[in-house]
Amino acid sequence: MSSDAYTSSEGLALSNVRWLDTHFEACRPEYEDMLRAVGIRRGWRVLDAGCGGGTHLPLLAGLVGEKGRVDAVDLAAENVDAVGGHPDLQDTPCPVSVRVGSLMALPYSDDNFDAVWCANTTQYFDDEGLLAALAELRRVARPGGTVAVKDVDVQMARFYPADSLLVVRLSEVSLLDRTDAQARGSVRGRELRRWLERAGLEGVWQRTTLIERWAPLKPAEREFFGSWMAYLARVAEERGVPEEDLAAWRALRDPEAPDHLVNHPEFYACEGQVIAVGRVPAGDET
Ligand SMILES: C[S@@+](CC[C@H](N)C(=O)[O-])C[C@H]1O[C@@H](n2cnc3c(N)ncnc32)[C@H](O)[C@@H]1O
Repeated sequence: MSSDAYTSSEGLALSNVRWLDTHFEACRPEYEDMLRAVGIRRGWRVLDAGCGGGTHLPLLAGLVGEKGRVDAVDLAAENVDAVGGHPDLQDTPCPVSVRVGSLMALPYSDDNFDAVWCANTTQYFDDEGLLAALAELRRVARPGGTVAVKDVDVQMARFYPADSLLVVRLSEVSLLDRTDAQARGSVRGRELRRWLERAGLEGVWQRTTLIERWAPLKPAEREFFGSWMAYLARVAEERGVPEEDLAAWRALRDPEAPDHLVNHPEFYACEGQVIAVGRVPAGDET
């Protein structure tokens, strides 16, 4: 992947469709388990807010079945276009429609959905933006409906046998830049339950999943971890981490190099992902 291969037309890092597809394929079993745990029922009308290239849409369509309906919205026009061409969305059990729009002003009426799913998108918002987005998710879900948010906690990530705190230290350096909303958003995963409660949702629960992979890696896992390390190595360079860490990151820049960590016989990597799920209060008609 080239360095730009991570960024969408909206300038958001880690929002490019190819990257999203690679990430999803490497983590598919855990990602799909997380979505299944939300409790989406047959016949429901569901919104995927920040749908990217549509990786979660086939499972969502399967969960709601032929009497259900799935809507999807994303800020980046090319991601919305990719949903239209998604091979697993050519023959879904229920209608799936997608459009360009922002979580900050969702193009749907109040109380429109039985459930709203928002995966790996709150990481782009600062704390104030997160509350505004959650208010929008709550607005479009019906009273008693479900709001489910999934996001990463990047400080749970490790690449072995590299230094176990390499990612943590990079995250800490990035957090020093208060203007970098994604740096903050990427460590907010394990706080999500509290943010949903703050947004007025009820019965909120949260579950954290540690996704772990060991050598020998499958091709999709190799591509994902290789490109993720290359991306983080670029961030480390831009952020100016301490010299010793920079040397370690530089060794991770090129996943095609024969001595790259992804080829190490003892390679291990993990990523932490969180879902927080709440209910819109009954009597919340707007
Ligand atoms: C990391 S991707 C996740 C995509 C998908 N949910 C997934 O899990 O594969 C984040 C997505 O959110 C979209 N996004 C970011 N900010 C948004 C906003 N304010 N409104 C709508 N979509 C947004 C990006 O364009 C991108 O497609």
